[in-house]
Amino acid sequence: MTKPKKQTSSGGAANKMWGGHYAVGPAEAMARINECLDVDKRLYAEDIAASMAHAAMLGACGIIGAKDAAAIKRGLQTILKEIESGAFRFSAALEDIHMNVEARLAELIGDAAGRLHTARSRNDQVAVDLRLWVRGAADRLDGALKDLQRALVDQAADNAATLMPGFTHLQPAQPITFGHHLLAYVEMFGRDRGRFADARRRMNECPLGAAALAGTSFPIDRAMTAKALGFDRPMANSLDAVSDRDFALEFLGAASVVGIHLSRLAEEIVLWASDAFRFVKLSEAFTTGSSIMPQKRNPDAAELIRAKAGALMGLQTQLQVLMKGLPLAYNKDLQDSKPPAMKAADELKLMLTAMTGMVRDMRANPAVMRAATARGFLTATDLADWLVQTQGVPFRQAHHITGRLVVMAEKKACRLDELTLDDMRQVEPRLTPDIYQVLKAESAVNRRTSLGGTAPKNVAAAAKRWKKALT
Ligand code: ARG
Repeated sequence: MTKPKKQTSSGGAANKMWGGHYAVGPAEAMARINECLDVDKRLYAEDIAASMAHAAMLGACGIIGAKDAAAIKRGLQTILKEIESGAFRFSAALEDIHMNVEARLAELIGDAAGRLHTARSRNDQVAVDLRLWVRGAADRLDGALKDLQRALVDQAADNAATLMPGFTHLQPAQPITFGHHLLAYVEMFGRDRGRFADARRRMNECPLGAAALAGTSFPIDRAMTAKALGFDRPMANSLDAVSDRDFALEFLGAASVVGIHLSRLAEEIVLWASDAFRFVKLSEAFTTGSSIMPQKRNPDAAELIRAKAGALMGLQTQLQVLMKGLPLAYNKDLQDSKPPAMKAADELKLMLTAMTGMVRDMRANPAVMRAATARGFLTATDLADWLVQTQGVPFRQAHHITGRLVVMAEKKACRLDELTLDDMRQVEPRLTPDIYQVLKAESAVNRRTSLGGTAPKNVAAAAKRWKKALT
C-alpha cells in the first residue's frame, strides 16, 4: 500500500488575522472549502455600513480615538467606492468580505485599521450583514408582490362581470366571475406580504456587539449601532445573536408560501391557455414557440414558475437541516446559511416579475368562458335553492329533486334550461316558468351577493378597494 500523500500547505504565508499563532498557510483544499467570497461579495454594502456604525460608536464611546475613527470612516468610504466602481481587488485567500475589507483598510490607512475590530468579531459581523441583507430582500420582494397584486386587480376590475365556470375537483361546479377568481390570488399575495412583514419585525434586532459569543469587556453602546443600522433594538442575548438564523428560516418559509401560491396560479394559467380551455390567451412576450410545430404557443414562463416553487421549498429545507444539529454558539456551518436565502430571494424576484408580466399581458376570452358555463349543469344548485326559497322545500329534498332533473337532462342530452316546463313538472310539479331565469349563469352570479361572494357588484367593489389599498 502506498502511503497517502501528506497534504501540505498551499505554500502561502500564515493568515494575517491569526498569524500570531500559525506558522504556515492552509492546504489548498482547506482554503477552497473555507472561502465564501462569491456569496460575500453580495454583502459588501451591508458589511461596510455595519463597520461604519461600529467605528462611529467606538469613537463616540472613547474606545478608539476620534482621529482613528475618522480615518476608518474615510477608508471605508473609499472601499465602498472601489467596490462599486469595480476597482476593488477581492482575494479569495482572505476567505470572506470582512477580511477583504479589513485588509484593504490597512493598505489605505495603516495601523488605525487594526482598531476597527475592537469589541467585535466576524461572528457578529456576519450575523448583522446577513440580517441587513435579508431585511432588504424582504422589502424588495414586498414591492414585487405589490406589483403583481396591481396587475391582478387591474385584470379583475376589467373582468368583474366576465362569467366562467368555477371548479371543485377540477369538475365544473358553479358559475363565477373571472374577476372573482383573480382576486382570490390578490388575497393570497396580500397574506404573503404580511408574512414577510411579520418576519421583518422579528428580524429587525441588531446582533452587532455580541462579539464572538460572550459580549465584550469594552464599554460599547449597542443601542447606538442598532439605531444607526435601522434596527429596532439590540438583540438581548449574545449567544443567540451570533448563532441563530431563524430570521433566514422565516424568510425562506414566507418565500416558499409565495412559491406555492405562484405555482397554483401558474398551473391555472397553463390550463386556461390550453386548447381544451382557451379561457385566456398569453402574449408572445411570455410564451415560446416550438422549433417543430408552428402552431404552438407554449406557456413556458408559467411552467418554470411552477418548477421553481419546488426549488424554494428545497432551499428552506436546506437551511432547516443545516441548523438542526448545531450547538451554540457560532459554527462554521453557518457560513453556508447565506446561499439559501440569497438564492431564494433571486429566484422569487424573477418568478414574481415574470408572473406580473404574464398576468398584465394575458387576454381573457369571455365568449369561450361564457360558453363553458352552459355545460356541466352549473346552475343546478340555483334550482335547488329556488325550491327552498320560494316553495319552502327542505334543502336535502330540493337537492334530490334537482338531481333527478339533471339525470333527465343527461338522458335527453340537453342543458337544464332546455327541458320543457312539462318535462320538469313530471319530476317536480311546483316548478314555475320563473325557473328559466334562475337557471341562467348571469342570474346565478348576480344573486351571490353574500360577503366574499362572486356577484359582479361585489367583485367590482373589492377590486376598487384593493386598487385604493395598493396605491
Ligand atoms: N466567513 C464566516 C461566515 O461567513 C465569518 C465568520 C467566521 N467566524 C469564525 N469564527 N470563523 O460565517
